[in-house]
Amino acid sequence: MAGLAKIIALFNKKGGVGKTTYTLWLAATTARMGKRVAVVELDSQESIRDILAERDVEEHNEFPVTTYNYHQYDKSLADKLGELATHFDYIFIDCPPSEKEEITARALEVTDLVVVPTIVSKQSLLATKVAMSLINNVRINVNPELKSVIFINEYDKRTLLGQVIPDELEAEFPETPVLKTKMPSRQVIKKSEYMGLSPHEMGDSDSKLAEKDIKKLHKEIFSYLK
Ligand SMILES: Nc1ncnc2c1ncn2[C@@H]1O[C@H](COP(=O)(O)OP(=O)(O)OP(=O)(O)O)[C@@H](O)[C@H]1O
Ligand SMILES: [Mg+2]
Repeated sequence: MAGLAKIIALFNKKGGVGKTTYTLWLAATTARMGKRVAVVELDSQESIRDILAERDVEEHNEFPVTTYNYHQYDKSLADKLGELATHFDYIFIDCPPSEKEEITARALEVTDLVVVPTIVSKQSLLATKVAMSLINNVRINVNPELKSVIFINEYDKRTLLGQVIPDELEAEFPETPVLKTKMPSRQVIKKSEYMGLSPHEMGDSDSKLAEKDIKKLHKEIFSYLK
């Protein structure tokens, strides 16, 4: 969408893989670079609203991102996102898991890049296959420009599955790169969710590591938007 916001969606049919987490913290990282950023929540769970409600606004700056909840739009979603794209540089979309394929498909019609977070488990691998087939359908039928990447979250390369699953993902989806940046499990990510703060705002040594990882992830993801 030339001249309009770039749209990045985070989607997997598997729940609990990091869609909401990275929607928020990637959006905050982008905003800190001086960009106008919106986050659109498509999930009726409204996790983003709940997370940001925990934020101690007296101690911390305003969250630098404007948030919208569009889960009610469905059929007119592409128009709604198109309109929003005229006001921002980047839009990050938090897609719902499993049951609401329709609204996700509508969002992907106008998305530039879909990031598919996954964790190292057989169930997550199976869910990723289903997610990729939805993405491919949208690409074939409506949005040939749609790019996709897979992001491995809560990664531990010391485990057997940790060694096998990245190769399996690459073999299964040869046209969708698996990001080199993988995120280990970090307590500080859970803590930052609990407090409604980005790891950047937490300011302890663990959060610095998480912040570094998120910046690296951000850089790699943005290299696919060029
Ligand atoms: N790298 C990580 N280390 C530790 N905890 C993490 C990490 N990534 C995500 N989490 C935690 O895992 C939980 C699930 O993450 P999140 O809510 O982002 O998943 P989701 O894909 O949006 O789930 P749902 O499909 O239910 O919306 C959260 O409590 C989050 O803080
Ligand atoms: Mg979520």
